[in-house]
Amino acid sequence: MLNFEFSNPTRLVFGRDTIARLSDLVPKGARVLLTYGGGSIFRNGVHASVRAALDDAFVVEFGGIEPNPRYETLMKAVRLVREKEIDFLLPVGGGSVLDGTKFIAAAVKYDGPDAWEILRSNGGCVKAALPLGAVLTLPATGSEANGSAVISRDETTEKLGFWSELVYPRFSILDPATTFTLDARQTGNGVVDAFVHTTEQYVTVHKDSVLQDRFAEGILSTLIEEGPKVLASPSDYASRANVMWAATMALQGAMGAGLPGDWASHGIGHELTAFYGLDHARTLAVVLPGVWRHQLEMKKERLAKYGARVWGLTGEPAWVASRAIELTEAFFESMGVPTRLSDHGIDAVQAGAKVRARFAQRGTRQGENGSLSPEDIEKIIVSRA
Ligand code: NZQ
Ligand code: ZN
Repeated sequence: MLNFEFSNPTRLVFGRDTIARLSDLVPKGARVLLTYGGGSIFRNGVHASVRAALDDAFVVEFGGIEPNPRYETLMKAVRLVREKEIDFLLPVGGGSVLDGTKFIAAAVKYDGPDAWEILRSNGGCVKAALPLGAVLTLPATGSEANGSAVISRDETTEKLGFWSELVYPRFSILDPATTFTLDARQTGNGVVDAFVHTTEQYVTVHKDSVLQDRFAEGILSTLIEEGPKVLASPSDYASRANVMWAATMALQGAMGAGLPGDWASHGIGHELTAFYGLDHARTLAVVLPGVWRHQLEMKKERLAKYGARVWGLTGEPAWVASRAIELTEAFFESMGVPTRLSDHGIDAVQAGAKVRARFAQRGTRQGENGSLSPEDIEKIIVSRA
Protein backbone atom coordinates (compact mmCIF):
# COMPACT_ATOMS: atom_id res chain seq x y z
CA MET A 1 0.00 0.00 0.00
CA LEU A 2 1.39 3.39 -0.92
CA ASN A 3 1.74 5.68 2.05
CA PHE A 4 4.17 8.60 2.01
CA GLU A 5 4.97 12.26 2.52
CA PHE A 6 6.87 14.06 -0.20
CA SER A 7 8.33 17.54 -0.41
CA ASN A 8 11.22 19.07 -2.28
CA PRO A 9 12.05 22.70 -1.53
CA THR A 10 14.63 23.25 -4.31
CA ARG A 11 13.70 25.71 -7.08
CA LEU A 12 15.16 24.41 -10.36
CA VAL A 13 16.12 26.98 -12.99
CA PHE A 14 16.85 25.06 -16.17
CA GLY A 15 18.11 26.20 -19.57
CA ARG A 16 20.68 28.09 -21.57
CA ASP A 17 22.12 31.29 -20.09
CA THR A 18 20.35 30.77 -16.77
CA ILE A 19 23.48 31.59 -14.74
CA ALA A 20 22.54 35.26 -15.21
CA ARG A 21 19.54 34.56 -12.94
CA LEU A 22 21.93 34.45 -9.97
CA SER A 23 21.58 38.20 -9.73
CA ASP A 24 17.95 37.74 -8.55
CA LEU A 25 18.29 34.37 -6.82
CA VAL A 26 21.14 35.11 -4.42
CA PRO A 27 19.67 37.12 -1.53
CA LYS A 28 20.44 40.85 -1.74
CA GLY A 29 23.19 41.93 0.63
CA ALA A 30 24.37 38.36 1.27
CA ARG A 31 27.99 37.62 2.12
CA VAL A 32 28.62 34.78 -0.32
CA LEU A 33 31.17 31.97 -0.33
CA LEU A 34 31.56 30.65 -3.90
CA THR A 35 32.98 27.11 -3.68
CA TYR A 36 34.48 25.15 -6.55
CA GLY A 37 36.64 22.15 -7.42
CA GLY A 38 39.90 21.78 -9.30
CA GLY A 39 39.37 24.64 -11.75
CA SER A 40 37.15 23.34 -14.59
CA ILE A 41 34.91 26.38 -14.03
CA PHE A 42 37.77 28.70 -15.04
CA ARG A 43 38.48 26.74 -18.24
CA ASN A 44 34.89 26.65 -19.52
CA GLY A 45 33.79 30.20 -18.74
CA VAL A 46 31.34 29.24 -15.96
CA HIS A 47 33.30 31.16 -13.33
CA ALA A 48 33.25 34.31 -15.46
CA SER A 49 29.47 34.03 -15.98
CA VAL A 50 28.88 33.53 -12.24
CA ARG A 51 31.03 36.52 -11.28
CA ALA A 52 29.36 38.69 -13.93
CA ALA A 53 25.93 37.81 -12.49
CA LEU A 54 27.14 38.58 -8.94
CA ASP A 55 28.75 41.81 -10.02
CA ASP A 56 27.76 43.91 -7.01
CA ALA A 57 27.70 41.17 -4.36
CA PHE A 58 30.23 40.48 -1.59
CA VAL A 59 31.92 37.23 -2.69
CA VAL A 60 34.76 35.19 -1.20
CA GLU A 61 36.02 32.13 -3.10
CA PHE A 62 37.11 28.72 -1.85
CA GLY A 63 38.53 26.26 -4.42
CA GLY A 64 40.18 22.86 -4.34
CA ILE A 65 37.21 20.68 -3.31
CA GLU A 66 38.25 17.27 -4.62
CA PRO A 67 36.17 14.61 -6.40
CA ASN A 68 34.93 12.53 -3.42
CA PRO A 69 35.23 15.66 -1.27
CA ARG A 70 37.48 15.35 1.74
CA TYR A 71 36.52 16.31 5.26
CA GLU A 72 40.02 17.70 5.84
CA THR A 73 39.62 20.20 2.96
CA LEU A 74 36.07 21.14 3.88
CA MET A 75 36.98 21.98 7.47
CA LYS A 76 39.30 24.67 6.04
CA ALA A 77 36.26 26.20 4.35
CA VAL A 78 34.34 26.06 7.64
CA ARG A 79 37.06 28.20 9.24
CA LEU A 80 36.96 30.64 6.32
CA VAL A 81 33.16 30.98 6.59
CA ARG A 82 33.48 31.91 10.27
CA GLU A 83 36.36 34.30 9.69
CA LYS A 84 34.62 36.17 6.83
CA GLU A 85 31.15 36.04 8.41
CA ILE A 86 29.69 34.35 5.34
CA ASP A 87 25.91 33.86 5.32
CA PHE A 88 25.21 32.22 1.93
CA LEU A 89 27.00 29.38 0.13
CA LEU A 90 27.18 28.99 -3.65
CA PRO A 91 28.76 25.75 -4.90
CA VAL A 92 29.63 25.84 -8.62
CA GLY A 93 30.58 22.46 -10.09
CA GLY A 94 29.75 18.76 -9.94
CA GLY A 95 28.28 16.59 -7.21
CA SER A 96 31.47 16.70 -5.15
CA VAL A 97 31.45 20.51 -4.90
CA LEU A 98 27.74 20.51 -4.08
CA ASP A 99 28.06 17.73 -1.50
CA GLY A 100 31.13 19.29 0.08
CA THR A 101 29.29 22.58 0.39
CA LYS A 102 26.26 20.96 2.03
CA PHE A 103 28.66 19.58 4.61
CA ILE A 104 30.19 23.05 5.11
CA ALA A 105 26.67 24.47 5.55
CA ALA A 106 25.92 21.99 8.35
CA ALA A 107 29.39 21.95 9.92
CA VAL A 108 29.48 25.74 10.38
CA LYS A 109 26.40 25.52 12.61
CA TYR A 110 27.46 22.36 14.43
CA ASP A 111 28.75 23.04 17.92
CA GLY A 112 29.91 19.57 19.02
CA PRO A 113 33.59 18.63 19.28
CA ASP A 114 33.92 16.91 15.87
CA ALA A 115 31.79 17.75 12.82
CA TRP A 116 32.37 14.19 11.51
CA GLU A 117 29.49 13.33 13.82
CA ILE A 118 27.25 14.76 11.06
CA LEU A 119 28.23 11.75 8.94
CA ARG A 120 28.27 9.24 11.77
CA SER A 121 24.72 10.21 12.71
CA ASN A 122 23.60 10.26 9.05
CA GLY A 123 22.58 13.90 9.53
CA GLY A 124 20.63 13.23 12.72
CA CYS A 125 22.67 15.78 14.67
CA VAL A 126 22.12 18.58 12.11
CA LYS A 127 19.88 21.17 13.79
CA ALA A 128 20.76 24.20 11.62
CA ALA A 129 22.64 24.97 8.40
CA LEU A 130 23.65 27.97 6.33
CA PRO A 131 21.46 28.46 3.24
CA LEU A 132 22.90 27.50 -0.14
CA GLY A 133 22.05 27.71 -3.83
CA ALA A 134 23.93 25.80 -6.54
CA VAL A 135 25.20 26.01 -10.11
CA LEU A 136 25.52 22.45 -11.44
CA THR A 137 28.04 21.59 -14.19
CA LEU A 138 27.92 17.76 -14.14
CA PRO A 139 24.64 15.82 -14.38
CA ALA A 140 24.99 12.63 -12.32
CA THR A 141 24.37 12.72 -8.60
CA GLY A 142 21.07 14.57 -8.20
CA SER A 143 22.74 16.54 -5.40
CA GLU A 144 21.34 19.72 -6.96
CA ALA A 145 17.84 18.77 -5.83
CA ASN A 146 18.21 16.67 -2.72
CA GLY A 147 19.34 16.86 0.90
CA SER A 148 22.14 14.28 0.64
CA ALA A 149 25.91 14.55 0.65
CA VAL A 150 28.71 11.98 0.69
CA ILE A 151 32.01 12.89 2.32
CA SER A 152 35.36 11.08 2.55
CA ARG A 153 37.84 11.16 5.41
CA ASP A 154 41.49 10.27 4.79
CA GLU A 155 42.41 9.62 8.38
CA THR A 156 39.96 6.72 8.71
CA THR A 157 39.61 5.69 5.01
CA GLU A 158 35.87 6.27 5.31
CA LYS A 159 33.26 7.51 2.85
CA LEU A 160 29.90 8.19 4.48
CA GLY A 161 26.72 9.97 3.53
CA PHE A 162 24.28 12.14 5.42
CA TRP A 163 20.84 13.54 4.73
CA SER A 164 19.16 16.61 6.17
CA GLU A 165 16.19 18.63 4.99
CA LEU A 166 18.22 21.70 6.01
CA VAL A 167 20.80 21.29 3.24
CA TYR A 168 18.58 21.13 0.17
CA PRO A 169 19.74 23.91 -2.15
CA ARG A 170 17.31 26.88 -2.10
CA PHE A 171 17.75 26.93 -5.87
CA SER A 172 19.84 25.14 -8.46
CA ILE A 173 20.81 26.50 -11.84
CA LEU A 174 21.09 23.85 -14.55
CA ASP A 175 22.47 25.17 -17.83
CA PRO A 176 23.10 22.16 -20.09
CA ALA A 177 25.63 24.21 -22.11
CA THR A 178 27.96 24.18 -19.07
CA THR A 179 28.28 20.41 -19.55
CA PHE A 180 29.70 20.59 -23.10
CA THR A 181 33.23 20.51 -21.66
CA LEU A 182 32.78 17.25 -19.74
CA ASP A 183 35.17 14.63 -21.07
CA ALA A 184 34.01 11.16 -22.13
CA ARG A 185 34.87 9.68 -18.74
CA GLN A 186 32.80 12.12 -16.69
CA THR A 187 30.00 12.05 -19.25
CA GLY A 188 29.81 8.25 -19.07
CA ASN A 189 30.07 8.30 -15.29
CA GLY A 190 27.16 10.73 -15.05
CA VAL A 191 24.85 8.61 -17.19
CA VAL A 192 25.70 5.46 -15.22
CA ASP A 193 25.22 7.15 -11.85
CA ALA A 194 21.77 8.49 -12.81
CA PHE A 195 20.86 5.07 -14.24
CA VAL A 196 21.78 3.29 -11.02
CA HIS A 197 19.95 5.85 -8.86
CA THR A 198 16.87 4.87 -10.81
CA THR A 199 17.37 1.10 -10.58
CA GLU A 200 18.10 1.31 -6.84
CA GLN A 201 14.52 2.57 -6.47
CA TYR A 202 12.86 0.61 -9.29
CA VAL A 203 14.36 -2.89 -9.10
CA THR A 204 13.26 -3.52 -5.53
CA VAL A 205 10.66 -5.90 -4.25
CA HIS A 206 7.43 -3.88 -4.23
CA LYS A 207 4.19 -3.48 -6.14
CA ASP A 208 1.30 -1.01 -6.56
CA SER A 209 3.56 1.87 -7.60
CA VAL A 210 2.24 2.26 -11.13
CA LEU A 211 3.25 5.89 -11.60
CA GLN A 212 6.68 5.56 -9.94
CA ASP A 213 7.40 2.55 -12.18
CA ARG A 214 6.51 4.45 -15.34
CA PHE A 215 8.53 7.43 -14.14
CA ALA A 216 11.58 5.18 -13.59
CA GLU A 217 11.16 3.46 -16.95
CA GLY A 218 11.00 6.89 -18.61
CA ILE A 219 14.27 7.96 -16.99
CA LEU A 220 16.04 4.68 -17.85
CA SER A 221 14.84 4.78 -21.47
CA THR A 222 15.91 8.41 -21.77
CA LEU A 223 19.42 7.59 -20.53
CA ILE A 224 19.68 4.58 -22.87
CA GLU A 225 18.66 6.73 -25.85
CA GLU A 226 20.45 9.97 -25.03
CA GLY A 227 23.60 8.64 -23.30
CA PRO A 228 25.29 7.46 -26.51
CA LYS A 229 24.39 10.78 -28.18
CA VAL A 230 26.19 12.90 -25.58
CA LEU A 231 29.29 10.72 -25.97
CA ALA A 232 29.18 11.03 -29.76
CA SER A 233 28.28 14.77 -29.85
CA PRO A 234 29.43 16.46 -26.64
CA SER A 235 28.10 19.88 -27.70
CA ASP A 236 24.62 18.76 -28.70
CA TYR A 237 22.45 20.94 -26.47
CA ALA A 238 19.27 18.86 -26.79
CA SER A 239 20.92 15.61 -25.68
CA ARG A 240 22.89 17.26 -22.90
CA ALA A 241 19.65 18.84 -21.68
CA ASN A 242 17.76 15.54 -21.70
CA VAL A 243 20.53 13.78 -19.78
CA MET A 244 20.75 16.64 -17.28
CA TRP A 245 17.03 16.66 -16.55
CA ALA A 246 16.93 12.86 -16.31
CA ALA A 247 19.79 12.85 -13.80
CA THR A 248 18.09 15.49 -11.64
CA MET A 249 14.75 13.66 -11.73
CA ALA A 250 16.40 10.36 -10.81
CA LEU A 251 17.21 11.49 -7.26
CA GLN A 252 14.92 14.35 -6.27
CA GLY A 253 12.50 12.08 -4.47
CA ALA A 254 9.32 11.87 -6.56
CA MET A 255 10.26 8.72 -8.45
CA GLY A 256 10.96 6.73 -5.31
CA ALA A 257 8.19 8.18 -3.14
CA GLY A 258 6.83 5.52 -0.84
CA LEU A 259 9.10 2.75 -2.17
CA PRO A 260 11.73 0.70 -0.37
CA GLY A 261 15.19 1.65 -1.65
CA ASP A 262 17.83 -0.97 -2.38
CA TRP A 263 21.03 1.17 -2.27
CA ALA A 264 23.28 -1.90 -1.85
CA SER A 265 25.30 -1.02 -4.94
CA HIS A 266 25.86 2.45 -3.52
CA GLY A 267 26.76 1.19 -0.05
CA ILE A 268 29.24 -1.35 -1.39
CA GLY A 269 30.52 1.09 -4.02
CA HIS A 270 31.35 3.74 -1.41
CA GLU A 271 33.67 1.23 0.28
CA LEU A 272 35.43 0.55 -3.04
CA THR A 273 35.95 4.29 -3.46
CA ALA A 274 37.20 4.61 0.13
CA PHE A 275 39.74 1.79 -0.30
CA TYR A 276 40.75 2.19 -3.96
CA GLY A 277 39.78 5.73 -5.00
CA LEU A 278 37.56 4.53 -7.85
CA ASP A 279 35.18 7.12 -9.34
CA HIS A 280 31.73 6.75 -7.78
CA ALA A 281 29.93 5.66 -10.98
CA ARG A 282 32.70 3.18 -11.78
CA THR A 283 32.05 1.37 -8.54
CA LEU A 284 28.35 1.14 -9.39
CA ALA A 285 28.95 -0.33 -12.86
CA VAL A 286 31.06 -3.05 -11.24
CA VAL A 287 28.78 -3.82 -8.28
CA LEU A 288 25.20 -3.54 -9.61
CA PRO A 289 25.28 -6.57 -11.97
CA GLY A 290 26.78 -8.61 -9.12
CA VAL A 291 24.04 -7.58 -6.69
CA TRP A 292 21.36 -8.47 -9.23
CA ARG A 293 22.82 -11.89 -10.05
CA HIS A 294 23.24 -12.65 -6.36
CA GLN A 295 19.60 -11.71 -5.70
CA LEU A 296 18.15 -13.06 -8.91
CA GLU A 297 15.61 -15.24 -7.13
CA MET A 298 14.33 -12.42 -4.89
CA LYS A 299 14.31 -9.77 -7.61
CA LYS A 300 13.28 -11.98 -10.54
CA GLU A 301 9.84 -10.48 -11.00
CA ARG A 302 11.08 -6.87 -10.92
CA LEU A 303 14.03 -7.64 -13.19
CA ALA A 304 11.67 -9.30 -15.65
CA LYS A 305 9.47 -6.18 -15.60
CA TYR A 306 12.56 -4.04 -16.19
CA GLY A 307 13.67 -6.32 -19.06
CA ALA A 308 10.27 -6.24 -20.70
CA ARG A 309 9.50 -2.56 -20.33
CA VAL A 310 12.90 -0.93 -20.67
CA TRP A 311 14.68 -3.36 -23.00
CA GLY A 312 11.59 -4.64 -24.87
CA LEU A 313 12.40 -8.28 -24.08
CA THR A 314 9.79 -11.01 -24.36
CA GLY A 315 9.91 -14.59 -23.14
CA GLU A 316 10.11 -16.63 -20.00
CA PRO A 317 10.56 -14.32 -16.94
CA ALA A 318 13.76 -16.01 -15.67
CA TRP A 319 15.37 -15.63 -19.08
CA VAL A 320 14.20 -12.02 -19.45
CA ALA A 321 15.61 -11.17 -15.99
CA SER A 322 19.06 -12.63 -16.81
CA ARG A 323 19.18 -11.09 -20.26
CA ALA A 324 18.26 -7.68 -18.79
CA ILE A 325 21.33 -7.88 -16.53
CA GLU A 326 23.56 -8.66 -19.54
CA LEU A 327 22.10 -5.75 -21.51
CA THR A 328 22.68 -3.41 -18.55
CA GLU A 329 26.34 -4.43 -18.39
CA ALA A 330 26.69 -3.94 -22.13
CA PHE A 331 25.13 -0.48 -21.82
CA PHE A 332 27.58 0.59 -19.12
CA GLU A 333 30.49 -0.70 -21.22
CA SER A 334 29.14 1.19 -24.25
CA MET A 335 29.23 4.37 -22.13
CA GLY A 336 32.93 3.72 -21.55
CA VAL A 337 32.41 2.58 -17.95
CA PRO A 338 34.00 -0.83 -17.23
CA THR A 339 32.11 -3.46 -15.24
CA ARG A 340 34.86 -5.66 -13.79
CA LEU A 341 37.34 -5.09 -10.97
CA SER A 342 40.15 -6.43 -13.16
CA ASP A 343 39.50 -3.50 -15.54
CA HIS A 344 40.69 -1.32 -12.66
CA GLY A 345 43.61 -3.58 -11.66
CA ILE A 346 41.89 -4.51 -8.38
CA ASP A 347 42.22 -7.98 -6.84
CA ALA A 348 38.62 -9.07 -6.22
CA VAL A 349 39.43 -11.54 -3.45
CA GLN A 350 41.33 -8.95 -1.44
CA ALA A 351 38.68 -6.32 -2.08
CA GLY A 352 35.93 -8.72 -1.01
CA ALA A 353 37.67 -9.49 2.28
CA LYS A 354 38.31 -5.81 3.07
CA VAL A 355 34.75 -4.72 2.38
CA ARG A 356 33.26 -7.69 4.25
CA ALA A 357 35.33 -6.76 7.31
CA ARG A 358 34.07 -3.16 7.09
CA PHE A 359 30.41 -4.12 7.12
CA ALA A 360 30.98 -6.78 9.78
CA GLN A 361 32.73 -4.23 12.02
CA ARG A 362 29.87 -1.76 11.61
CA GLY A 363 27.32 -4.49 12.11
CA THR A 364 25.29 -3.29 9.13
CA ARG A 365 23.51 -5.14 6.33
CA GLN A 366 22.72 -3.84 2.85
CA GLY A 367 19.86 -3.98 0.38
CA GLU A 368 16.12 -3.58 0.72
CA ASN A 369 14.96 -5.38 3.87
CA GLY A 370 18.62 -5.70 4.98
CA SER A 371 18.85 -8.76 2.76
CA LEU A 372 22.66 -8.75 2.24
CA SER A 373 25.01 -9.88 5.02
CA PRO A 374 28.74 -9.03 5.03
CA GLU A 375 29.39 -12.54 3.65
CA ASP A 376 26.94 -11.99 0.77
CA ILE A 377 28.70 -8.71 0.00
CA GLU A 378 32.06 -10.47 -0.14
CA LYS A 379 30.64 -13.05 -2.58
CA ILE A 380 29.26 -10.27 -4.78
CA ILE A 381 32.61 -8.50 -4.93
CA VAL A 382 34.53 -11.71 -5.64
CA SER A 383 32.07 -12.45 -8.48
CA ARG A 384 33.11 -9.16 -10.13
CA ALA A 385 36.77 -10.13 -10.67
O1 NZQ B 1 36.90 19.72 -9.86
P1 NZQ B 1 36.68 20.33 -11.20
O2 NZQ B 1 37.89 20.99 -11.75
O3 NZQ B 1 35.45 21.17 -11.26
O4 NZQ B 1 36.48 19.09 -12.23
C1 NZQ B 1 35.47 18.10 -12.05
C2 NZQ B 1 36.03 16.80 -11.48
O5 NZQ B 1 37.37 16.61 -11.80
C3 NZQ B 1 34.99 17.69 -13.41
N1 NZQ B 1 33.94 18.56 -13.96
C4 NZQ B 1 32.77 18.94 -13.36
N2 NZQ B 1 32.05 19.69 -14.22
C5 NZQ B 1 32.79 19.82 -15.34
C6 NZQ B 1 33.99 19.11 -15.18
N3 NZQ B 1 34.93 19.05 -16.15
C7 NZQ B 1 34.67 19.70 -17.29
N4 NZQ B 1 33.53 20.38 -17.54
C8 NZQ B 1 32.55 20.46 -16.60
N5 NZQ B 1 31.40 21.08 -16.85
O6 NZQ B 1 34.48 16.39 -13.22
C9 NZQ B 1 35.23 15.73 -12.22
C10 NZQ B 1 34.33 14.93 -11.33
O7 NZQ B 1 33.51 15.81 -10.58
P2 NZQ B 1 32.62 15.29 -9.34
O8 NZQ B 1 31.87 16.43 -8.81
O9 NZQ B 1 33.48 14.50 -8.42
O10 NZQ B 1 31.64 14.22 -10.03
P3 NZQ B 1 30.16 13.83 -9.70
O11 NZQ B 1 29.21 14.91 -10.04
O12 NZQ B 1 29.99 12.52 -10.34
O13 NZQ B 1 30.13 13.68 -8.10
C11 NZQ B 1 30.59 12.52 -7.46
C12 NZQ B 1 30.40 12.64 -5.97
O14 NZQ B 1 29.01 12.74 -5.61
C13 NZQ B 1 28.67 11.70 -4.68
C14 NZQ B 1 29.65 10.62 -5.03
O15 NZQ B 1 29.76 9.66 -4.00
C15 NZQ B 1 30.92 11.40 -5.25
O16 NZQ B 1 31.54 11.72 -4.04
N6 NZQ B 1 27.23 11.37 -4.77
C16 NZQ B 1 26.35 12.26 -4.26
C17 NZQ B 1 25.00 11.99 -4.19
C18 NZQ B 1 24.03 12.95 -3.62
N7 NZQ B 1 24.48 14.07 -3.10
O17 NZQ B 1 22.84 12.70 -3.61
C19 NZQ B 1 24.44 10.71 -4.66
C20 NZQ B 1 25.38 9.93 -5.50
O18 NZQ B 1 24.99 8.58 -5.46
C21 NZQ B 1 26.81 10.03 -5.12
O19 NZQ B 1 27.10 9.17 -4.04
ZN1 ZN C 1 25.26 7.53 -7.13
